[in-house]
Amino acid sequence: VWSIGPRAIEVKAKDFGHDLQAMAAAIADDTRLVFIANPNNPTGTFLPAAELEAFLKAVPQHVVVVIDEAYNEYLSADLQYESTDWVRTFPNLIVSRTMSKAYGLAGLRVGFAIGQPGVTDLLNRIRQPFNVNSLAQAAAVAALTDKAFLQKSAEVNAQGYKQLIQAFDELGLTYVPSYGNFVLVKVGDDDGAGARVNLALLKQGIIVRPVGNYGLPQWLRITVGLPEENAAFIAALKTILG
Ligand SMILES: Cc1ncc(COP(=O)(O)O)c(C=O)c1O
Repeated sequence: VWSIGPRAIEVKAKDFGHDLQAMAAAIADDTRLVFIANPNNPTGTFLPAAELEAFLKAVPQHVVVVIDEAYNEYLSADLQYESTDWVRTFPNLIVSRTMSKAYGLAGLRVGFAIGQPGVTDLLNRIRQPFNVNSLAQAAAVAALTDKAFLQKSAEVNAQGYKQLIQAFDELGLTYVPSYGNFVLVKVGDDDGAGARVNLALLKQGIIVRPVGNYGLPQWLRITVGLPEENAAFIAALKTILG
C-alpha cells in the first residue's frame, strides 16, 4: 500500500460554522490545503464575502484554498458574491460548484471547479481518464443557461425552508438558520435522539440525514423537499415527537 501520509487538522466550529480566524491560525508549515464549504454542509451556515476575502489575504500563497460552493445558487441576491473574480487575484484558490443541487442534475454526477492554470493543470494530471460523460457535460452546459429553472429551484427551496422552520417553531424545536437546501434541527436532548427519530421516520418512509458522525447526535439534517414532501415529513415528525 502506497500512501503520501497526509494529516488532517480539524478546527473547532464556531456557532455551527467555520471559524476562519482559528483556521488561519491552524495553518502549519506543512499545510497544503484548506477546505471551506460555503454555505456549509450539514449546518447550513454562511460566511459573508468580506470575511472570506480577508481569509484569502491572510493565507500563505503556497496553501491551496478550496471554497466549495455546492449551495451557492440558493443564496439570495444580496448575499451573492463573485468568488470567480477572486480566482484571478489568488492563484492558490479553487472554487467548486456542483450541478447536483439547484440545477437538479444529481443523477448525472457533474460539477466543475474554477482555478488558475497552475492548479487546474495539476488537477488535470490526476483526473481519472473517464470521469464526466459527454451527455452529462452537454446537460451541464445547457443547464448553466437555464436561469428560469435555477430561479424556480431557489424559490421552491425558500418556500419549503419556511414551511419547515414554521413547523419547528410550532413544535418548539431548535434549528440552525440555513442558507442551503436543508436545515439542521435538534430532535432531542439525549445523544440517542438523532438515531431514534431517524429510525422512526424511516419506518414512515421518510429519509433524512442523521449527523452523529459530525458530532451532532441530537440533531437531524432535513433536506427541503416539495411542499407535499415537507408536509409528510412534518406530519410524521409530529407523531414521533408526540
Ligand atoms: C458541501 C458539498 N459539496 C459538494 C457536494 C457534492 O455534491 P455532488 O457530488 O453531488 O456533486 C455536496 C453534496 O452533498 C456538498 O454538500
